[in-house]
Amino acid sequence: MTQTLNAATLAAYEHWAPLYPPMPHNPLMRVEQAAMLELWPETAGRRALDLAAGSGRYSRLLADSQAAEIVAVDFCAPMLAWVSAVSRVCADMMRLPFANCTFDVIISGLALGHASSVHEWMQQAARVLKPGGVLLYSDFHPEAARMSLTRSFSDQDDVTWTVPHHCHAIACPMAAAQAADLTVDKMHEIHVGRELSEPFPNSEEFYEQWNGLPVVLVVRARK
Ligand SMILES: C[S@@+](CC[C@H](N)C(=O)[O-])C[C@H]1O[C@@H](n2cnc3c(N)ncnc32)[C@H](O)[C@@H]1O
Repeated sequence: MTQTLNAATLAAYEHWAPLYPPMPHNPLMRVEQAAMLELWPETAGRRALDLAAGSGRYSRLLADSQAAEIVAVDFCAPMLAWVSAVSRVCADMMRLPFANCTFDVIISGLALGHASSVHEWMQQAARVLKPGGVLLYSDFHPEAARMSLTRSFSDQDDVTWTVPHHCHAIACPMAAAQAADLTVDKMHEIHVGRELSEPFPNSEEFYEQWNGLPVVLVVRARK
């Protein structure tokens, strides 16, 4: 089942990749990135991992914030093809090909919901973090997934794709962080109609229907 979902996720991102520039390219990404930057850890001179990097928008921000060494990992080669000027590794985020205690900082944008097990994802992140290291991640909010909101896009042939998402209860990443010896020090939720209020085509109905719903979760944790 996990293999099937992974294959479906990979196929969706392979089709999305040509339309996925390394910058926030929709209203949700814009507020998500602003929230991530508010909690951005000290990165100057540090060794950083962009986990499930996609086209590398966080790799770029890591470079801008003077990280000494940056590695971008993703299992989707067409996504990684966008990434330049940092090391690229095509790998599964659930089996990271790095030694224990390699990185000072891990940044992961909008990817945890693709992990079949939050516990295993958190264990992997904690394993490759150095003691004192920081994990900063965002995710499509479990409450939004529970209400059947999806991450969908139209590809270059105008075919609509919905990216598979594992709906983990909000307590799950907190328990997983604790089990992996990570201490959550900041958490931020982005709500429809508050932080997310930028108009988009047909957004009036969306904002009316989902007003107040949390759509993105941002978490910072230390090892
Ligand atoms: C929503 S995109 C986010 C990309 C980037 N982090 C950003 O915020 O712009 C999610 C990314 O997770 C990657 N991904 C999903 N499952 C993965 C897995 N098991 N291993 C590695 N990468 C994965 C996808 O290929 C995709 O690039």
